[in-house]
Parts: sequence; structure tokens; C-alpha cells
Amino acid sequence: MKLTYTFTFSLLAAGFLASACSQPKQKEKEEASNETPITQEFIEENVAFSVKQYQHLSSLVPEDKLPRTYLKDEDKFVTSGTSWWTSGFYPGTLLYLFEMSGDSTMLELAEQKLEILEKEKDNTGTHDLGFMLFCSFGNAYRITGNEHYKEVMLQGAESLATRFHPETGLIKSWDHGSWKYPVIIDNMMNLEFLFWASEASGDDKYRNINISHADSTIKHHFRDDYSSYHVVDYDPTSGKVVEKKTHQGKADDSAWARGQSWGLYGYIVMYRDTKNQAYLDQAENIAAFILDHPNMPEDMVPYWDYDAPATDSTYRDASAAALNASAFLELSKYTKDKAKAEEYVTAAEKTIISLSSDKYRAKLGQNGGFILLHSVGSLPHDSEVDVPLTYADYYYIEALKRYQDWFLN
Ligand code: GLY
Repeated sequence: MKLTYTFTFSLLAAGFLASACSQPKQKEKEEASNETPITQEFIEENVAFSVKQYQHLSSLVPEDKLPRTYLKDEDKFVTSGTSWWTSGFYPGTLLYLFEMSGDSTMLELAEQKLEILEKEKDNTGTHDLGFMLFCSFGNAYRITGNEHYKEVMLQGAESLATRFHPETGLIKSWDHGSWKYPVIIDNMMNLEFLFWASEASGDDKYRNINISHADSTIKHHFRDDYSSYHVVDYDPTSGKVVEKKTHQGKADDSAWARGQSWGLYGYIVMYRDTKNQAYLDQAENIAAFILDHPNMPEDMVPYWDYDAPATDSTYRDASAAALNASAFLELSKYTKDKAKAEEYVTAAEKTIISLSSDKYRAKLGQNGGFILLHSVGSLPHDSEVDVPLTYADYYYIEALKRYQDWFLN
């Protein structure tokens, strides 16, 4: 079913299109915020809840660990070490919550975790350094201006750049398994970190890596309908494609929900930092795949795979929904088509409202202290199915922050 949008945001969209950077006039701002279903009070209530919930979560995390998930049936709080790909999200969420609430305990808790996370700057065995270091140290540097955080990130960017090889023109994702040179769509999310590194160091090499990686990914990861494969394996010498798979999805030719969101967010960042129209077109085409998909539920929280049966017993993925919400808000600022801008904002609003409802938002003191319920890590591996995940919380809070910063202030 094609979704129909009931909210109107013409004033808001017009404000954006006239000038993305200038502040709308006070009267327009008031009229716009009167029209939005998400109010300042709505955001404050969700942030206040999340601060309390993360205070509870912090009491469950050992000093040398990071939270990963909570398994309700076993009442088991699961943690990870710093080298796990999600290690940056918890400090990142604390930092967003500090900014939005002014509660200094959030900053203190984040800073404690940055201390143990710092050693990952030398980790050349993962492509996930964007998630691990930019969501954490990137936010910390933006907020505090602490130059040490900048040094940590520049070292981390250098480590990540060692995974780029000119023969393929791509950053290698995984070192495990029987793959030759696997590249996963998730890797698009590390490029924001490398754009920052080029800007901060004055060295274009990171930016050039991004452009090469993003261009090859457009060529090889996407299908005619702009859905994407999860993994493309390359021959490391010739750079030729060996095979295309969907490791965490329903089937190799299916559209794994979070993978579509990683791609969407990644090409929005590519457009943000290059202003190359091809990247905006790619992002809009991915957005259309998601928004027009017949299996997208009315509440905008996708099933874990767009090709999974659209039934009540099929798992949803709140992490993909949170990513979509945050990404759609940014995409609405760049699109030149007013109707599309409205569609993106409306979709983000519906998603945020759903995620903030009792169906997806945990009760205070439950859910291991995580904010959101109902995400899926990897269903084919029976890993983290219908559980809370740190990255769902991170992108949900980011979406709230973006909405507050761009639509209410
Ligand atoms: N980056 C791994 C995942 O999305 O599950």
C-alpha cells in the first residue's frame, strides 16, 4: 500500500528551500511549529525519559565494558569490549543526551567510556572505526573542543585509511570468513568520519577515498530498484566483482532493512560533503524504495527485511526505523523537490512518533536500561533478534535532536 501523508509542512519546507542555513523569521517559526505533530514538549519528555533510562543502564555496565543488548527472556544484560563495532554508540548517545538535557552526569559517563575506547584508534582490523570513533569522539570533540579527541580521531582515520586499496578502489570491510575482499553497504557509514579527517588535517586523501568508495558502491551494490545487496566480494588484485550476497538478510536477492538505511544515510552524507548531484539522486532513489515499498507498515517501523512476509509475527527493526528518521530529516534539507521534502519530513515524524510510543519505547527501569525495544541484529544467525540495540537508541536520539535543531528552533 502506498502511504498517504496527512500532515502538511509547506511552510516549513519553504523555509528550508529558501535557505537551508538562514533562520526562519519568528512568525514563520511559530506557525511552522504549530503545524508539527512533534512539539518541544514531546521532545523534552522523550529526552528526560532517556536520561533517566540511561542512568539506569549505566548502573548495569561494568567499568571496562560497553552495553550491547538485553535479553529479556534470560534477564541478561549483554556487554561488549571496545573492539566490537557498536562500542561508540553508547558514549555517543550519552553525549547527545548531555547536549539536549544539560545533565552533566551524561557527559561524565561518556567521558569514562572514551578513556577505554581510545585504544581503538590503532585498530586496523576493522572498517567500523567511523561508528566506533566518530559517533563517540566526534560528538565529544564537537561539544567540548578538547584537542586530544581530535588527535585520537586523526589517528583512527589513518588506521581506517589503511583498509583502502587502489586495486579495488574500496575500503575493505571484513577480515573474517572465506571472503576475498568483502565490502558491505554498512561501510558507507564510515565515510562521514573520513570527510571530517580531510577537513581537520587538510589532507584530501580521505575525501578521495570516500569518493572512490561511494562511486564503486553505486556501481556494484545496487539493483535496478535501488535496493542494495549487503556484501559485494571483490577480487583484491583485479578489483572485479566475485559475488553478491546478503549475509544478514532473508536471501541474497532480498532487501535487508538496515542495509537500505545504511545506504540511504551514507549517500546523504556524500551529498552533504561534495554537493555532487549524483549522490543526492542516489539517496532520493533509495528513499523512494523505502517509502514506496508495499511492505512498509503504516507505523513506518520496517520489517527486518523488506522481502520478509508482512505479517504480525514478522520481526520489526526499530534500528532501521531510527536511522531512516534521522536520514529523512537531513534529506529533506537537500532535495530540490518541495513535495519530496514534505514526504521525507512526514515520514520522519511518523517514525519518531511510533518509536516514542508504548509499542517501541521501553518502560522506565525495564529493557536493561535501553530506550527502544524491537530491533534485529542478525536474524539468519539467530543473533540479537527482537532486542534493544545501542545503535537504535543512538539514531533515535539523533533524530530527536535533528528535529529540535532544524524544525523547532
Ligand atoms: N553493521 C552491522 C549491522 O548493521 O548489523
